[in-house]
Amino acid sequence: MLLGPEAYVMNVYVERMWRRKGVAALLMVRVLAHARGAGLGVITLRASDEGRPLYLRLGFAPTNELRLR
Ligand SMILES: CC(C)(COP(=O)(O)OP(=O)(O)OC[C@H]1O[C@@H](n2cnc3c(N)ncnc32)[C@H](O)[C@@H]1OP(=O)(O)O)[C@@H](O)C(=O)NCCC(=O)NCCS
Repeated sequence: MLLGPEAYVMNVYVERMWRRKGVAALLMVRVLAHARGAGLGVITLRASDEGRPLYLRLGFAPTNELRLR
């Protein structure tokens, strides 16, 4: 298990007229580079059906989280 600072990405959104032009991919590449530079060992996000292919392509792996509040 990795310990240390982690990042959580949320509310990624691209206006409809700008979609499928690589905007989210570019944004996420910058976010991941920044996170690596900041020493963040783990990056988590909750993908929509629309966003899942993009995140899988960027190297994110599906998990099976359980949470108790
Ligand atoms: C999910 C979302 C952020 C993706 O944004 P986007 O800027 O359209 O994403 P990208 O263009 O980087 O990539 C998305 C798709 O466009 C394709 N694409 C990229 N450039 C392209 C181009 N020039 N021509 C055609 N398709 C292209 C990608 O290959 C990808 O296709 P795929 O899903 O079939 O694999 C956007 O659809 C959105 O805001 N959705 C609503 C909110 C949401 O679901 N957010 C995600 C929460 S995790």
